[in-house]
Amino acid sequence: MDLTSVRKAYQRYAPIYDRVFGPALNAGRMRTVRAVNRLPAARLLEVGVGTGLSLPHYRRDHRVVGVDISREMLAVAKQRVERDRLNNAEILEMDAESLAFADGAFDVVVAMYVVSVVPHPRRCLDEIMRVCRPGGTIFICNHFLSPRKAGIARSIAPLGRWLGWRPEFTLHQLLGDSRLEVINQRPVPPLGLFTIIECRNPAA
Ligand SMILES: C[S@@+](CC[C@H](N)C(=O)[O-])C[C@H]1O[C@@H](n2cnc3c(N)ncnc32)[C@H](O)[C@@H]1O
Repeated sequence: MDLTSVRKAYQRYAPIYDRVFGPALNAGRMRTVRAVNRLPAARLLEVGVGTGLSLPHYRRDHRVVGVDISREMLAVAKQRVERDRLNNAEILEMDAESLAFADGAFDVVVAMYVVSVVPHPRRCLDEIMRVCRPGGTIFICNHFLSPRKAGIARSIAPLGRWLGWRPEFTLHQLLGDSRLEVINQRPVPPLGLFTIIECRNPAA
């Protein structure tokens, strides 16, 4: 996947995304938002915000910036922000692998169903860690291949490929030798197929 194919894919999905992937991916999305809402008021970045399904659910004292590479997905997110009068949310077109924010600009960074969609997951993680302040919190909700889930992963692989996901993506591939400290890791429905990892960003 390169950026052009990601943009093309999500141009196609944008009109149907909320109806199809809204409910299908909602458990991980809402559990991640609930975990974020347990933290003190924060400068919060959501990368790959898509159509902004999470935005109405963040506590209003979180200042949220949502970025995505797909104009069509962002157009839906912008409509949502206006319709729901989400004065705490801002939407920007931006590549998650090259974020236009200063180092440590955010207390919390969230990436839901994104890290295995971007062309270079590790570059995306490095950028997330750069813009999150030292000691800040990073939430990643994604599908990660494990031997236990290999059978299920194989059965949903066509859906993953259609979505532009990598069904064989592992947590180790993402974290590798990053100094990110995983402080919590839990499976989420459907079928425990997805995982939420909560991480502490190391000191610079
Ligand atoms: C499966 S959707 C997830 C959307 C949303 N997080 C959700 O929970 O429904 C993946 C999103 O990642 C975005 N994306 C893919 N590559 C990106 C990149 N390099 N930079 C920013 N966004 C990207 C896509 O445009 C799409 O909106």
